[in-house]
Amino acid sequence: MAQVSSVAEGKTTKSVTLRIARYNPKHDSKKQFMEFNLQYERWTTVLEAILDVKKHFDHSVAVRYSCRQATCGSCGMIINGKPRLACFTKISELESDVVTVEPMNNFPIIRDLAVKFERLFDTHHKIKPYLIRDDSEITSNEKEFLQSPEELENYIQFANCIKCGLCNSACPTMATDSSFIGPQALAQAYRYVADSRDKGKDSRLKIIDDSHGIWRCHFAGSCSQVCPKGVDPAMGIQFLRGYMLGFRS
Ligand code: SF4
Ligand code: FES
Repeated sequence: MAQVSSVAEGKTTKSVTLRIARYNPKHDSKKQFMEFNLQYERWTTVLEAILDVKKHFDHSVAVRYSCRQATCGSCGMIINGKPRLACFTKISELESDVVTVEPMNNFPIIRDLAVKFERLFDTHHKIKPYLIRDDSEITSNEKEFLQSPEELENYIQFANCIKCGLCNSACPTMATDSSFIGPQALAQAYRYVADSRDKGKDSRLKIIDDSHGIWRCHFAGSCSQVCPKGVDPAMGIQFLRGYMLGFRS
C-alpha cells in the first residue's frame, strides 16, 4: 500500500517509504507490512512519521510512546534491523529510502509495534532496585549518606537506564532462554552493588548467581551497542562477575 503524507507540509525536502509491521496475535498467523510514502525534513523522527500515518491514514496502528524525548523508555522498536528509540531516531540519520519498523525482539507482541514489558519489569524488580540500608539508619534525621566524586563515578552511568528494553531486545541469550534475567536487570544489579551507600550486595549477588542469571551471559556485547543512554550493561556484567569471583570487593 503506497500513500503520500504531509509531515511538515510545505517544507518537504525528501521522501521515504515507511514500512510498518502489522500483527495481531489474536487473529493473525504472521506479520505483514503496510507501506506509506512520506515526506520528511532532516529533523523528522521515526515516531513523528508513525504518528503522521496514524493521523492521516490508519489510526489503528499500535505504537507505545509518551515523552518524545528519550526519557520515558516507551517507544523502543526495531528500526531498519536494529533496536532503537523511535523518538530519538531521525529518518535522515538512517540514510535509507526505506525505513522498516517492527516490534522489539524478545518481547511478546501486544499488537503491531507495541510489546509487553512485564518480563522486563519483573526482572528489574527481582534485583531489588533501591538502596538497602538498616531501617534505623534511613529513618534517622541525623545521618547523611555522602559520596565522593569517585564513588559516584563507579555507578552513575548505570543510573541513566530508562528501562526501554533495547538491550534485552538485542541480546542473543534472551532469544534462546526465556528465563534469562537479561542485561537490563544485571546492569541495574551492578548499579546498586557499586553504590557506596548500599548494603545489599550479598543478597543481590545471590539472586543473580543462577543458571538463568549472570552465568548465562556469553558476552556478545550487543546490549551495550544499542543502549540510547550510554549505559554499558556488558561492562556491568563483567564487574559483577568480579565481585562474585572475589576480584572486587
Ligand atoms: S541499559 Fe540502556 S538499553 Fe537497556 S533498558 Fe537501560 S537504557 Fe534501555
Ligand atoms: S517516547 Fe519516551 S523514550 Fe521515546
